[in-house]
Amino acid sequence: MVTPTPADKFTFGLWTIGYNGTDPFGGPTRPALDVVHAVEKLAELGAYGLTFHDDDLFAFGSTDAERQNQIDRLKQVLADTGLVVPMVTTNLFSPPVFKDGGFTSNDRAVRRYALRKVLRQIDLGAELGAKTLVMWGGREGAEYDAAKDIRSALERYREGVNLLSEYVIDKGYDIRFAIEPKPNEPRGDILLPTVGHALAFIGSLEHPEMVGLNPEVGHEQMAGLNFAAGIAQALYHGKLFHIDLNGQRGIKYDQDLVFGHGDLHNAFALVDLLENGGPEGGQAYDGPRHFDYKPSRTEDETGVWDSAAANMRTYLLLKERAAAFRADPEVKEALAAARVAELAEPTLGAGEGYAELLADRSAFEDFDPDVYFGGKGFGFVRLQQLATEHLLGAR
Ligand code: GCO
Ligand code: MN
Ligand code: MN
Ligand code: MN
Repeated sequence: MVTPTPADKFTFGLWTIGYNGTDPFGGPTRPALDVVHAVEKLAELGAYGLTFHDDDLFAFGSTDAERQNQIDRLKQVLADTGLVVPMVTTNLFSPPVFKDGGFTSNDRAVRRYALRKVLRQIDLGAELGAKTLVMWGGREGAEYDAAKDIRSALERYREGVNLLSEYVIDKGYDIRFAIEPKPNEPRGDILLPTVGHALAFIGSLEHPEMVGLNPEVGHEQMAGLNFAAGIAQALYHGKLFHIDLNGQRGIKYDQDLVFGHGDLHNAFALVDLLENGGPEGGQAYDGPRHFDYKPSRTEDETGVWDSAAANMRTYLLLKERAAAFRADPEVKEALAAARVAELAEPTLGAGEGYAELLADRSAFEDFDPDVYFGGKGFGFVRLQQLATEHLLGAR
């Protein structure tokens, strides 16, 4: 059960396994990784698919012929291995022209160029059967308050996403957009920094139904937020279009560790939510389980594939542990004692409104909060310890 198969829908960004270890302080520790080799190795490990930025597949500035050659090589290896490309994304951050952003650069010509670059990647995504276009606006932001008119920037962001939506509709493509929030890095402050900010922005769009989220574990945690709780809210709004799984240890730079190599408790809660949080306890999300991590800078190519496998194995182990947690009679009893299911019961009775509530003396006049409370606890700590014991394999 902990051996990955394509049915598990594990996908990897070409830029993840292809990360050569360069950081702001030093050069690469690994040679470039060819896409054909990458796909073959992922297939061997039991992955389902590959995702990529335009510039991961063909270097920025490639001629049309060079670009086409790489697309053909990718198509061939996909056909040979059965891997798919469920998502594509556009690099609007590496070329120096995007230093002040793509959709929201102060420079209008850059904004127009950025939109053209995304339109081209949408065409390629559609050709490869991708269903999701991720938009991570890492350079959409600022370091200095006077340098960026935030309201105009949001208006330009909106203009851009509206245009892309219109294009997808007119072309008849089966593609939806997923915004990936991140609080900072590379910009001092990035626009749409968290799940909540992005949800509010989506509500302002002309085609909100076409736009959802691609939340990343580490990005919410960089903002000190609870990732599993953010995912629950994204699901609640029907906006979990895609997900970036990785690990992060606290509020610091974007670590992109292997999934589970950060906050393991929250990773357990997340897998439990994705796998058991749906109606009748089924899956709450059936899209790709996409790993956006970086093999550590200390590793050679063996370490790259060890870490790729580790992401999938950890996910499957957590899935197994979450199933054991849900099946444990003592957990069921602790959940009932903690009244977790009672929250699903509407606060008002059928047909009740404020008039009926006001008329209900037992709700207020005759309700003695101190007597009712009576010193009773909820037993949440017991529940968390049971989760911890399942997580540790102690039950
Ligand atoms: C980051 C982001 C990126 C995006 C990717 C997809 O580096 O912080 O997570 O890896 O996910 O660019 O658009
Ligand atoms: Mn990240
Ligand atoms: Mn990253
Ligand atoms: Mn990401």
